[in-house]
Formats: sequence, C-alpha cells, structure tokens
Amino acid sequence: MQTKIQLPACISRIVLVGFMGAGKSTVGALLSRQLQWGFLDADQVLEGNAGTSIAEIFAQQGEAAFRRMEAALIGDLIRQQHLVLAVGGGAIETEAARNALLLAPETCVVFLEAPLEVMISRCEQQSGASVRPVLQDRERLRHRFESRLPHYRNAHLVVETASLTPEQTSQHIVSIISALLKEKTLA
Ligand code: S3P
Repeated sequence: MQTKIQLPACISRIVLVGFMGAGKSTVGALLSRQLQWGFLDADQVLEGNAGTSIAEIFAQQGEAAFRRMEAALIGDLIRQQHLVLAVGGGAIETEAARNALLLAPETCVVFLEAPLEVMISRCEQQSGASVRPVLQDRERLRHRFESRLPHYRNAHLVVETASLTPEQTSQHIVSIISALLKEKTLA
C-alpha cells in the first residue's frame, strides 16, 4: 500500500475506486461493518433511482447519459457522513465526479489495484457478467483500464489487492488509515 496525497486530518468518508472486479462492493461492505459506518454502492443507488439497470441505461440512453447521472449522484452521495462509498469503475472518467471525490472534505479515496487479467477473471466468475456493458466491449477494455489508471492513482491510498482476500484488504485499509491518522480515530 502506498500513500499518494496527504490525508485529511479527520476522516468521515472512505470512497473505493478501481476497475470492474477490483472488489469495491465486497470490500466496501466489509469496511462499513468494521467501522460501523453506512455503505452505499453508487451503481445500486443509481439503478434504484432510475428504476432500471445500468445495462438498460447504456443501451437506451448511451454511455454519456449514464456518466452524467453517475456524476450527479456521486456529488449528492459524497455529502453523507460516516459513509463507505463504492463507485463504478468508470466514475473517475468524468471530471465532475473526480473533483467531487477528491475535493470532498474529510474523505479518503482508496484505489483498489490489481492486474487487469485478475479483475476480468473475477468479473467472469460473478453472476451478471453477460450484462455488464463495459465488460462486453473486450476490444476497448485494456484501453479503458490504461486511460483510467492515472486518475485512479490520484487516490489518497493505493492498495494492491491481487494477493489479498477482501477481509485482508478491508483490515489493511483500516490499519493504514488509523496509522496515518496516528492518535486520531476515524471521526
Ligand atoms: C463501469 C463499471 C460498472 C458500472 C458500469 C460502468 C465502467 O461498475 O458503473 O457498468 O465503466 O467501468 P463496477 O466497477 O462496480 O463494475
């Protein structure tokens, strides 16, 4: 794990970013249990609000419309306190969403990093793989991943997850944030 930018002195939100299959939703749920904070998966909230699936939104309205909805939602969700928030793998493509995440006060953005092949194979083992629009577009996957990497790497913390279980990843994040905040507890 490496720290990129100085952490805020007090943290009341953790945001998980990373490519599909990075483990954001699984680790997010574990982290929230460990911290006794709320947990939101932005994709699930978006689908609930829209009353339809992300695959349908991509198919009916296109990716650009999805990205606008995603950025607006993230701008809203990031205001909640004591929150672990997992955002979709492409959220950081939108400047408004990137800024909302990185400039939010008392917020630690964590990039869950793994080799692309590891993440694709994790996705393929999950149900719903056949309806994930970005996963279907195999030709653009590597390009998307590589073009997103510099944005992911702007996170406060980068955690290599390939050799960690979700439980170990969650524990690791809590330990490193607590250590970095030294005597201060998570707010
Ligand atoms: C996307 C990733 C998905 C979801 C949407 C687009 C992407 O989220 O937001 O299908 O562009 O990488 P996960 O990263 O949670 O799978």
